[in-house]
Amino acid sequence: MYNSDKVIPGIIIFVLFVTLPIWWNHGKTVAAPQPELPQGRCVESKEYMRSHHMQLLNQWRNMAIRDGMRVYTSSDGARFWIGLQNGCMKCHHDKSKFCDRCHQFAAVEPYCWNCHIPPETKKFGPPKATKLLKLFHVPVTLGDSQEGEE
Ligand code: HEC
Ligand code: HEC
Ligand code: HEC
Repeated sequence: MYNSDKVIPGIIIFVLFVTLPIWWNHGKTVAAPQPELPQGRCVESKEYMRSHHMQLLNQWRNMAIRDGMRVYTSSDGARFWIGLQNGCMKCHHDKSKFCDRCHQFAAVEPYCWNCHIPPETKKFGPPKATKLLKLFHVPVTLGDSQEGEE
């Protein structure tokens, strides 16, 4: 009926051909995103930030907008200025080398930048509140004042 001498090798060659990309890529798994990290610490632990920054951002937004709270106390008692531009982006200056690297990889496109201004397009000076907070002796950790604290 059919010639198994040819069919079997044919199937083997076909399977090898179809799975070639797997063999070819064996050992060189897809490069994980390499976000550029600043020196020092983040608001919360790196692990927590990696998996929960979206929830934290939501929480920050609610604290700032609904409760008017502008200072976040982290789980280990450090204080941070609440803000996307004036908080996160004070340390993570370059959106394209940080947020975007992961998001492109994960194929997510947060719509935040429809309204919030990423730092590349506008240079932010030191947050105005710093002086005010200093006046009232509120210790707040801000990106640029990180050095020498650790
Ligand atoms: C429709 C416009 C709009 C979009 C889209 C938007 N925001 Fe906002 N966001 C605002 C406005 C307006 C404020 C209030 C600014 C203020 O009170 O100083 C704010 C405030 C915030 C704050 C607290 C204060 C601050 O200055 O950062 C955070 C955090 C925040 N947004 C995060 C996000 C995140 C994360 C996203 C994307 C998931 C997002 N926002 C998308 C308009 C927007
Ligand atoms: C005071 C400076 C500072 C602020 C403010 C800050 N970060 Fe970070 N962030 C860092 C540093 C430093 C690291 C690297 C930590 C490490 O290596 O342990 C980091 C790490 C991260 C990571 C993990 C990256 C990775 O490769 O796993 C994410 C995600 C992140 N930050 C998001 C945010 C977001 C979102 C905000 C605002 C809610 C924010 N950060 C505010 C300094 C900051
Ligand atoms: C270490 C990699 C990494 C970095 C760095 C990172 N993100 Fe993300 N982010 C992710 C991943 C992965 C998701 C999707 C998570 C999911 O869908 O559960 C995500 C989702 C989000 C979301 C929710 C979007 C949605 O549609 O659900 C927001 C908002 C967000 N990130 C904001 C930021 C901001 C702002 C920065 C830069 C300050 C940042 N992220 C940096 C990995 C990262």
